[in-house]
Amino acid sequence: MPTKIEKDAVTGTMTTGHEWDGIRELNTPLPKWWLWVFYATIVWSIGYYVLYPTLPGLNGILGWSQRAELADGMAAERERIRPMLDRIRATPVTEIRNQPDLAAFAVAGGRAAFADNCAPCHGAGGAGAKGGFPSLADDEWIWGGDPDAIQRTVAFGIRSAHPETRQSQMPRFGTDGLLTPAQISDTAEFVLSLSGRAAVPVAVERGRAIYAEQCAACHGAEGRGMAELGAPSLADQIWLYGGDKAAIEHSIQVARGGVMPAWTDRLDEATIRMLTLYVHQLGGGR
Ligand code: HEC
Ligand code: HEC
Repeated sequence: MPTKIEKDAVTGTMTTGHEWDGIRELNTPLPKWWLWVFYATIVWSIGYYVLYPTLPGLNGILGWSQRAELADGMAAERERIRPMLDRIRATPVTEIRNQPDLAAFAVAGGRAAFADNCAPCHGAGGAGAKGGFPSLADDEWIWGGDPDAIQRTVAFGIRSAHPETRQSQMPRFGTDGLLTPAQISDTAEFVLSLSGRAAVPVAVERGRAIYAEQCAACHGAEGRGMAELGAPSLADQIWLYGGDKAAIEHSIQVARGGVMPAWTDRLDEATIRMLTLYVHQLGGGR
């Protein structure tokens, strides 16, 4: 309800003449400096609308865009590291290790590429994952752990679609009826004994004969594996698919045949070399 504009007795400030339930409004306008800053931001925003991309379709007269800036930054970065990548391409992997600056660059690049491409299967830092994805951070290798072997594995894969893939196939002893379930059970007992685990002695003895006939050609007489055939060691505590009796029996029955993709068509040569060096030093380096 409008009332008289007068000086407020308590504060000495003029009132506005507005009153609600006996509460009168004092006339305290915004500070001038505040108002001018406020107007300045409006003017600024108009300038901004003209110069920079704002509403959809208004791209700004400067032609600036975040996307182009990122592309420029990436091009500059590529240009910056090009000499290093050229050196990596021109140097055999085993040689790169002897050039500390190049090796450090390659391992850092390999770490980044690994996180992008390999970690989903092999785990962060190459720790491995259940279900046939080997740890790359131990010094136990299925297909060989020197730089040339690793490079070949990464480039062409294992049982991949690439014509030069590493290839080997364990027979499907159960599925194809090559061994009876009882024989598979006995062989599994023998495999348990290879890594020094508790097994039923009579079954181990029966399994030993089957193993010598059916398995030793690939896994070795003492079960230490053979890198040329990609046959893993059965005499250690490292398992692709689990080392309890049920998992071992299942491996013998179906022959798992894990697939590692080929990377040569997806990643450039320098990246594959950097990955090789990164993986190699993860495992302690052979
Ligand atoms: C789709 C899952 C998958 C991806 C992605 C993958 N791998 Fe593999 N990798 C495997 C499997 C499965 C094996 C084991 C195959 C076997 O049973 O021999 C393997 C084996 C390997 C081996 C051989 C290990 C040994 O002990 O000899 C190396 C080295 C390797 N991978 C490196 C890499 C690198 C580097 C990348 C990324 C560029 C990568 N992998 C991406 C599934 C994968
Ligand atoms: C032609 C070669 C070959 C023969 C013969 C063979 N294996 Fe294998 N075995 C492999 C290969 C290669 C792998 C790894 C790839 C895969 O899982 O298929 C493997 C994997 C395994 C695994 C899984 C190991 C793990 O780390 O989980 C077990 C267990 C195994 N073999 C036991 C046997 C037994 C027992 C026999 C004999 C009854 C046998 N293999 C015969 C090649 C062979």
